[in-house]
Amino acid sequence: MRTQVVIVGGGPSGLLLGQLLHKHGIETVILERKTREYVLARIRAGILETGLVNMMREAGVAERMDRECFVHHGTCISYENEMFDINFQKLIGQNVIVYGQTEVTHDLYDARAAIGAKTIFEVENVRICDADRDAPYVTFHTDGTEQRIDCDFIAGCDGFHGVSRKTIPETVRREYEKIFPFGWLGILSETPPVHEELIYANSTRGFALCSMRNENLSRYYVQCELTDKAENWSDDAFWDELKRRLPEAIAERLVTGPSIEKSIAPLRSFVTEPMRWGRLFLCGDAAHIVPPTGAKGLNTAASDVHYLYEALVQYYRDNEDEGIERYSEKALARVWKAERFSWATTNLLHRFPDQTPFDLKMQRAEIESLHHNEIAQRWFAQNYVGLPY
Ligand code: FAD
Ligand code: PHB
Repeated sequence: MRTQVVIVGGGPSGLLLGQLLHKHGIETVILERKTREYVLARIRAGILETGLVNMMREAGVAERMDRECFVHHGTCISYENEMFDINFQKLIGQNVIVYGQTEVTHDLYDARAAIGAKTIFEVENVRICDADRDAPYVTFHTDGTEQRIDCDFIAGCDGFHGVSRKTIPETVRREYEKIFPFGWLGILSETPPVHEELIYANSTRGFALCSMRNENLSRYYVQCELTDKAENWSDDAFWDELKRRLPEAIAERLVTGPSIEKSIAPLRSFVTEPMRWGRLFLCGDAAHIVPPTGAKGLNTAASDVHYLYEALVQYYRDNEDEGIERYSEKALARVWKAERFSWATTNLLHRFPDQTPFDLKMQRAEIESLHHNEIAQRWFAQNYVGLPY
C-alpha cells in the first residue's frame, strides 16, 4: 500500500487532520488500535475554543455542532460561598462552545466514511520506520498478518500511550513532566445542569467542577486521591461530596440522579520536544498533556493540527517546506502557553497535600484578585477562549 500521509491514531487529532487534508486532495490512511465504538465511548473534553470550531467548519463537519452546541459567554468561579462570573464576551468579545469530544469524534468518523477515506481499525504492533530518511514506511498487524504502507509523512496522533513519540530516539527527545498529587473523579448524569455556565469551585474540601453536555446531561467532577477507585464511590457519596464543595445557594439547586459513567483521571503536565523528527510529526496528546482545569487538552491538540495542516498544504500545493521545518517551533510556542494556563488554574483551584497556611493565604489572595481585578480577568478570559494561532 502507498499513501501520502499515514496518520497513526483515530482520535480527534488524527480525524480532524485527515478531514482537512482531504479538502486539499491530500490522501491519508488512518491506523487506529481500537474499534470505532471504543473510541466513541470515551467521555472526555467538553469545551471547544473558536480555533477548533473554525477548523471543524473549514473541514465541512460543523453542521450538527453549529446546530446543537451551546455558546458560553463566560464561566463562574466559586470559593466557599462566594461566586463570580468571568464574562469573556464583555471582557474580550469572544466566547467558547459546549460540544462534547464524543460528538466531535462522531461527526468526524461519519464525514470520513462519507468521503470513503481509509481507516484501518484494531491494528497492532504499529512500527514507524525510516522517519529520518526520504522514504518512510509504517508496518502493522491486522488479523495476524503484517502489512506495510509506504508514505511521504507520518502524523503521530496516537495519544500519550502511543508509539509515535517513542519512535524519536532518546538522544533527540527531551521530556518535561509534572505529576499532580491528586486526580479528578468525574460522573455523567442525565440531569439538568445546575447552572447555565460552568462553575469551577475552590473549597476547603478540594476542587469541584460543574460542567454539562446539553440541557439534560451534566458532567461533574471532584478532586480525589490518586489512590481512589471509581467503583468505591457510590453515586450518593459523589453527590454529597460535590454539594459540600459548592456555594450553598448552588448546592441547594443541584438535581442529582444515577450516574451513567464514572471514572478517575490523574492530573499531569507533560511536554516532549521537538515535535518533529524528520518526516514524523507529533500532534496532540502524543506530544503533550495538560491537567484538564483549563479545558485545554483537546483545544491544544487542535492547534497542532492547524500548524501541521498548514505545513502539509504548503508542501504539496506550493512545493514549500518552511511550514514543515518550523512545525515544531510554532506548535510548541503555543503549547507552552496552554501548559502555563492549565498549570496556573490547577494551582489556583486545588488543595495540595503540602500546602502551608501561607500558601493557602496566597491562593485566596489570587482568587480575590481574579474576582475584583479586570486585568486579571482579561488574562484569564484570553487564555480560556484560546490564544490566537
Ligand atoms: P487521543 O484522543 O488520545 O487519541 C489517540 C488515538 O490513538 C486513540 O484513539 C488511541 O486508541 C489511538 N492509538 C494509541 N496508540 C496507538 C497505536 N499504537 N496505534 C494506533 N492507534 C493508537 N481534555 C479536556 O479538555 N477536558 C477533559 O475533561 C478531558 N478529560 C480527559 C480524560 C481522560 C481520561 C483523558 C485521557 C484525556 C482527557 N482530556 C480532556 C484530554 C483530551 O481528551 C485530549 O487532549 C484529546 O483526546 C487529545 O486528542 P488526540 O487525538 O491527540 O489523542
Ligand atoms: C468537561 O465538561 O468535561 C470539562 C469542562 C471543562 C474543563 C474540564 C472538563 O475544564
